[in-house]
Amino acid sequence: MSVSALKMSRLLIMSGFYFMSSPGSGSAGGKPNLDVEKKVDSLLNQMSLDEKIGQMTQVNKLSIDKNPQHIKELYIGSILSGGGESPRPNTPQSWADMTRAYQQQATETRLGIPLIYGVDAVHGHGNVYGAVVFPHNIGLGASRDPELIAKIAKITSKEVAATGIHWNFSPAVSVARNLRWGRTYEGYSENTELVRALSKGYTSGLLSFTTEKGSRVLGTAKHFVGDGGTVWGSSHNSQFKIDQGDTPLSEQDLRTIHLPPYKDLIEEGIQSVMVSYSSWNQEFMHRHGYLIQDVLKGELGFDGLVVSDWLGVFWQDGENDAIKIENSINAGIDMVMAVDRYADFISILKNLVLTGRVPMSRIDDAVRRILRVKYRVGLFSDPYYTSGFTEEVGSAAHRKVAREAISKSAVLLKNNNAVPFSGKNRRLLVAGKGANNMGLQCGGWTINWQGGDGDITPGDTLLNAMQVSIPNGWTINHLAEGQKEIDGTDLYDYGVVVAAEDPYAEGFGDKLQPQLKDEDLALLAQVKARSKKTILIIYSGRPVEIKNADSLADAIIAAWLPGTEGLGLSDLLLGFKPFTGKLPYTWPKSFANYEGYPVSQDNTLFPFGHGIQTQ
Ligand code: BGC
Repeated sequence: MSVSALKMSRLLIMSGFYFMSSPGSGSAGGKPNLDVEKKVDSLLNQMSLDEKIGQMTQVNKLSIDKNPQHIKELYIGSILSGGGESPRPNTPQSWADMTRAYQQQATETRLGIPLIYGVDAVHGHGNVYGAVVFPHNIGLGASRDPELIAKIAKITSKEVAATGIHWNFSPAVSVARNLRWGRTYEGYSENTELVRALSKGYTSGLLSFTTEKGSRVLGTAKHFVGDGGTVWGSSHNSQFKIDQGDTPLSEQDLRTIHLPPYKDLIEEGIQSVMVSYSSWNQEFMHRHGYLIQDVLKGELGFDGLVVSDWLGVFWQDGENDAIKIENSINAGIDMVMAVDRYADFISILKNLVLTGRVPMSRIDDAVRRILRVKYRVGLFSDPYYTSGFTEEVGSAAHRKVAREAISKSAVLLKNNNAVPFSGKNRRLLVAGKGANNMGLQCGGWTINWQGGDGDITPGDTLLNAMQVSIPNGWTINHLAEGQKEIDGTDLYDYGVVVAAEDPYAEGFGDKLQPQLKDEDLALLAQVKARSKKTILIIYSGRPVEIKNADSLADAIIAAWLPGTEGLGLSDLLLGFKPFTGKLPYTWPKSFANYEGYPVSQDNTLFPFGHGIQTQ
């Protein structure tokens, strides 16, 4: 093809008229679409090996910023923001400007194939300052409400697209079977059926959002497969204990416990699957040809793209990088989250192809899948996504849904006539590190990968929410952090203590003994001595050992990691909404002899499904 013909074809591809079809015409529902397949074939036929390998490469923002020209020079197919990789200033508009600038580079390559930008919007678009932050999945598991979750996912897609981002690494469909795991909160439940129902709800909502031009956000089922089944002490990462570990299970059990959500989401139309850092019976998932090629792509008929986890290809054991890359690509990984190792990945993979260790047919299959997905979501006709709705990020309408989600996700574990509050001229005491701390209220994957402490993003803490919601004549006294003495000498009508786990993400949250802190229990005792009714609210990414809190608190509420809209909790405390949440995980008494799921009857404090309803 001559240069001018090539330029012309690029223009036509970009304008969406190349094949005389409407933009976004590929079904995001994953059904074969001959039109899309023809476009993909035609494009693939024009591509050089370098262009193909470029499509298979995903670089993180911080690395590409060091050499932005590499987008063009290396034909990079995808960029991601890892947790906390935000533009400065961190505003929705600068996210949109940033993704636009990267995309501009991609569209100036020979074939002008748009890149696809990914982010972990795992509880709303949490990296973005001012975005609405929803409860983490554990809380949504307690809501048992797939329709609500669909609404959340649709809003998340909208906020993601509003910042020019096309790909969300969500939902996690992990069936978490050990509460010591630092990613327990990313999973909806220990129960496969509940994970299935809720992740289906999420996926349908995620796909229901379309831009003005009909483009959709690409969703990701992760982490394939068995990420929630790892055992304590088996981590392949020396920093961690159970995250990135081994899942020792029979194939039958793997198929019944961990595989079903993938089957469901493929039917629902999910177009990408992320591979797990974990191993199954000591064989790394990142080179598991049987599970990726035969089961996922063959048996389950998945025709979208399989993406590795962050450096997951490099982090398996193995003699050298070339062998690892050879194994991973031949096992069926289509796109490699190569992060800062992208230049190595590209040159090694090229060499593997030229020496016949990775067949060209495998490269073509990988690139075909990537292009198919790019067509299906509508990227070729709408590479920028944003069209004037950036200001909707964090809108009041979106926050209203988060408020509802918080109300539906809190679980009332115990209630000795303490909630909802009632009466006239009540005096409230509010205390505890979590009471006025947005960072603790949101948990990991918020603004930063590991989350943060304090005023990290706009919203209402529980204290703010109570202050604006209490009836006339009521008063609130806040025992601020560091303040030792409670004012006055009278009894308060209600004393509320908000205990919180410190934020964490992934293996940094692996904990042998998740439990309330001694300082929280001491505070609870102090507040109890000055209150007619004492209420303990726990912010945590999992059930924690409550020690002697049962004897100190009249009511105990598991609020999980609720997110930015504290009004959802004040609605419950003040009786504007009923408590309806039900435990998505069994709550153990102690972690001393805990072996993971199932928790023995003797060691069960509150069973799966427990939750006092105040309807
Ligand atoms: C996590 C993934 C995440 C990826 C990109 C990894 O550390 O395991 O869940 O999607 O980072 O941020």
